[in-house]
Amino acid sequence: MQRIPDPTPFAQLLSQRVTRRRVLATGATLAPLALAGGGLLPACAAMGPANRLGFKAIEGSKADAVVLPPGYRYDVIARWGESLWSSVPDLDAARLADGVLLQPGAAERQQRQFGTNCDAIHFFPLDARGDRGILCVNNEYTQDELMYPGHPGISGALRGGSREYVSTHSQAVAVSKAAQGVSVVEIARVRGRWQMVKDSRFNRRITAETPMDLGGPARGAALLRTQADPNGVRAFGTFANCAGGETPWGTYLTAEENIQDYFGNLDQLKARNDIDPHIVEAHRRWRMWKAASLYGWEAVDARFDLPRTPTEPLRFGWIVEIDPRDPTRAPVKRTALGRCAHEGASPFIAHSGRVAVYLGDDDKFEHIYKFVSDARFDAKNPAANRDLLDRGTLYVARLDASGRGEWLPLVFDPKGPLNTAAGFRDQAEVLIKARAAATLLGATPMDRTEDIEANPVTGRIYVACTRNEQRTAAAGHRMYAGREVECGTDRANPRGANPFGHIIEIREAGDDHTAREFSWEVFLLGGDPAGGRLVTALTQVRQDSTYYAGYANADELSPIGSPDNIGFDRGGNLWLVTDGPQPRVANNGCYACPTAGPERGRLQQFMSGPVGAEICGCQFSPDCETLFLGIQHPGEGGSITEPRSHWPDGPGTQPRPSVIAITKEGGGTVGT
Ligand code: FEO
Ligand code: CA
Ligand code: CA
Repeated sequence: MQRIPDPTPFAQLLSQRVTRRRVLATGATLAPLALAGGGLLPACAAMGPANRLGFKAIEGSKADAVVLPPGYRYDVIARWGESLWSSVPDLDAARLADGVLLQPGAAERQQRQFGTNCDAIHFFPLDARGDRGILCVNNEYTQDELMYPGHPGISGALRGGSREYVSTHSQAVAVSKAAQGVSVVEIARVRGRWQMVKDSRFNRRITAETPMDLGGPARGAALLRTQADPNGVRAFGTFANCAGGETPWGTYLTAEENIQDYFGNLDQLKARNDIDPHIVEAHRRWRMWKAASLYGWEAVDARFDLPRTPTEPLRFGWIVEIDPRDPTRAPVKRTALGRCAHEGASPFIAHSGRVAVYLGDDDKFEHIYKFVSDARFDAKNPAANRDLLDRGTLYVARLDASGRGEWLPLVFDPKGPLNTAAGFRDQAEVLIKARAAATLLGATPMDRTEDIEANPVTGRIYVACTRNEQRTAAAGHRMYAGREVECGTDRANPRGANPFGHIIEIREAGDDHTAREFSWEVFLLGGDPAGGRLVTALTQVRQDSTYYAGYANADELSPIGSPDNIGFDRGGNLWLVTDGPQPRVANNGCYACPTAGPERGRLQQFMSGPVGAEICGCQFSPDCETLFLGIQHPGEGGSITEPRSHWPDGPGTQPRPSVIAITKEGGGTVGT
């Protein structure tokens, strides 16, 4: 629990006015600075008075820039391709069009450079003041069309069933494997500005090839064995890393999400009659590619070709634990936390000392999970916590119409329901096929749960459901991912279709995070609150309704769509970032709102990102004076020859996914 500082709205307002005056006085330099990624930003289009969080909300923007409220600035602290070691050159992004990433040595260089498409960001302090720390950053996927000239990229792969591979595909795959995974990098605050520390002993790249251990109940399981790892104990790499979390014992949790897009030729696997049917069954719930995959790795690496390595995908889709302070320790895939399109892994210490980890599964009609450790967290003995996540119980949530809910244990039991007759031979198979087990138990199918996190002040849990266009107003069934799903609305997913997403707030029974029961309510229904769409009671919800935890003044609320990663400042206020369609024409951004008090639900926009980017991270420094955000896939939809964004380096440059640090001009906390 953290102390809630006394808000000083008048003093904040005053200091902002002073800062604003100073900004205006130097206004002539503002636009170039914004384009160069250097900081002060135009205070245009701010709406309403400053909120309790001390910022004046901005309007949505289409600018190819990071737009912030008056009095805030940002620095780019790590760009894709910046080297973590001085012995290795930075990526020369000006030469992307010349095929610099297809030349000899490019993949080896990328293994030593900051990865691309940064998603989760977590900060591990190295000193008492928090002026030095280790950033762990997920590098989710590559946009091949923005990296390799002439490469069809994702959009090309999506266009056609049969895909023509360009002659440079194998070089491209090698670089793309190195550009994904996790970047571990020391950063330091020097005179108020954060910068990367090259050659730090903590710097480390973890890629799609890095050897790592398989831990927990599925370690050694038959379904996890391959020719390269006949004992099923050592996996090779991590990729598709989306949101994540940090443990109370100082390790990083990275979530493997859309792993299915790297594996191809499922139809060929199905046609074979010498394959254990349990393997094909385990692939059923994942949208594996029937022929060529989205990224086409199977064309150059047998590991990703299902007929040649049928069990390889089962070694992905896990939560991976990384010790940022010990680069010699191999990451561990924690199979006790189940296998799904993981998004977010947020630990919370229960009163008893046992550790709950909240987990989302980002696909339509998938579920919300919670893991509870058997053993207790030992603050005095960090080594004792090392394998805490290997033993415990995984639960899945059923949210009832009454507003109550139950965590259902995913435990193999010969007496059922998760038994051999139901397709589960042991606990390992329950965890590998967690989705199927969850559905069998009656878990609630959600509208794509992205990040999930417990509020460090109140302990309440917030679940971002990003959207679900296939939810229908009327009760019914539809086929999705090869299975029939109930697609009609329910109280937890109350709008069909749901193009702008919503947020659920969960309270554990007795505020005990090991509890089997909970209560819940909708906290927010995204969309545009203007035009009479705002409702203040959930009994009034229509298809186009928006709801902001009962906040009644639509003029003081920002429209929002596609909530994704979430975070909390030390006052327990909710911060969230978006990835996807917005109700008004606008880029993705960052938003904040109190979760308690008279401004509970007063969600306002804090930041707008560059063209084509999703915004990620949402991590505060320990002193709350910095908000770290990830700018993922700026320029999405463009190409090297026709870029849609020039962020962060300005006109004439290629877009570069990057991590930024947002601070207040003159110092002070971001939020409360
Ligand atoms: Fe990688 Fe669900 O966002
Ligand atoms: Ca996400
Ligand atoms: Ca996302």
